[in-house]
Amino acid sequence: MILGIETSCDETAAALVTGEGEVAASVVSSQADLHARYGGVVPEVASRRHLELVSPVVNEALHEAGVDLGAVTKVAVTQGPGLVGALLVGIAAAKAIAWTRRLPLVPVDHLQGHVASLYIGDDPVEPPFLCLLASGGHTLLLDVRERGRHAILGSTLDDAAGEAFDKGARLLGLGYPGGAEIDRLAREGDPAAYDFPVARVPGLDFSFSGLKTALLYAVRALSPAELEERRADFAASYQRAIVRALVSRIHEAAEQTGARRLAVVGGVAANSELRAGLPEAALAPLRYCTDNAAMIASAARYAEVVAYPRYLGLDAYASAV
Ligand code: KG4
Ligand code: ZN
Repeated sequence: MILGIETSCDETAAALVTGEGEVAASVVSSQADLHARYGGVVPEVASRRHLELVSPVVNEALHEAGVDLGAVTKVAVTQGPGLVGALLVGIAAAKAIAWTRRLPLVPVDHLQGHVASLYIGDDPVEPPFLCLLASGGHTLLLDVRERGRHAILGSTLDDAAGEAFDKGARLLGLGYPGGAEIDRLAREGDPAAYDFPVARVPGLDFSFSGLKTALLYAVRALSPAELEERRADFAASYQRAIVRALVSRIHEAAEQTGARRLAVVGGVAANSELRAGLPEAALAPLRYCTDNAAMIASAARYAEVVAYPRYLGLDAYASAV
């Protein structure tokens, strides 16, 4: 049994996953409510909350799986990218648990974790495939050759897709995090009401900052009452523009690389319009799209193991390596 721990942003998560990729328990404690009043994640606040939550969340995962630490053979933890202070809390907890039981530790890259959400459960996706990873921090097109190994084909030049959702939601006066809120509100709106342009950048990269500015100007032109009335139309049109950009890029990439299998992972993969827009793609299971520890434990099956006690000096990293 692999114990996974994830604390890279504002979710404190722990999971127990078998070597075959069966999830015995997955507990996610979101801090979203705590950060909502600031309109985004406050790193210091996140670190402190992780510190309070990490032990109870690990205990709850063990309880849910009906096992104790004696059943754990490896401890997996997100090493980066993410908020360094937040990551360090998970890493310290993982080191302590592994060290006291003389277990090996597996440092996991968060992005590898998102990809490994496709390897969970009874119907895992087999490489090779072309993978769109769209989250709050990243928008990447990956050529996944085998489990645990990928090459980057494209990435965002400015905002991540999830960040575009969150910033758009903020302009529309919706809560944080905004992706799910826009998704919900968009169902009541007309996606053709506004024509938001998405920048066409060369190659297989993405750009979303212009879209956000277009929404800003459109919103500014209205009175609060008018905005109230058109909010759902804005949400639907804005979401349509983001989804179109993602769908067209993954299709272009498939054409260029000759990839036959497509997959989508990351928080934005939870978006209903994106899911409907890529009927041919393998989609990460909904509950493993946004940050969780099951995907981290899953990725640990294909990552390098660090033997006891060499991992005690292990550090976090903030940006993708
Ligand atoms: O993967 P994730 O949990 O964290 C990062 O690694 O960044 O992704 C979080 C992002 C947020 O920006 C959130 O707004 C977005 O995923 N998101 C969604 C939906 N659910 C979460 N975006 C669009 N539609 C959704 N239903
Ligand atoms: Zn993530």
